Amino acid sequence: MSLNDDFSSGSNSGVRGWVSVEVTAPGSEPEVLLADTSEPLLTLAESVGIRAPSECRRGNCLSCAARLAPGSSWNYETAADTFLCAEARDAGFILTCCTRAVGPGLKIELEQQAEAFQIQFYERFAKAREEGFHASLREMTAYNERHPDEWIKRTEESLSAAASSSSAEDSDLDVESDGEEERGGR
Ligand code: FES
Repeated sequence: MSLNDDFSSGSNSGVRGWVSVEVTAPGSEPEVLLADTSEPLLTLAESVGIRAPSECRRGNCLSCAARLAPGSSWNYETAADTFLCAEARDAGFILTCCTRAVGPGLKIELEQQAEAFQIQFYERFAKAREEGFHASLREMTAYNERHPDEWIKRTEESLSAAASSSSAEDSDLDVESDGEEERGGR
């Protein structure tokens, strides 16, 4: 796939036009640039000398991730097959190598790859882990409901094991405190 290929099939996909886009690089003031609607935003940034990170330039590595700035429109089109997850896209992240402006009001903040990674990997995995935990809990509850006798027996065994281990701990504590009293009494 070349840089400009395979943008998703929006109504004006691939049509050349010009719109202004506000681009903010880290540590810099926002710049309003005139964007070619057939070119990726990464190319736009590079054309004015902004050195934005990029590795694959195919939507796979997330190194070019940017984020819509507060007050931005969502007037962009992006390639259909990028690696960016729906959660990150919904949170306003875009991959500038595969995204172009298609209407007014777009404002982007460059170099948001760490934040995009956070959502793409850590938050999604944490959510999946939590969902997995709740699914096993639901499964276990359903099993217990189907086998109440077994559940009661298991619960009683656990309670009695907990009670005997707690009384064993109490007697250990008694022995220790007796020993201390004896030592203290001497
Ligand atoms: S440069 Fe790799 S996703 Fe854009």
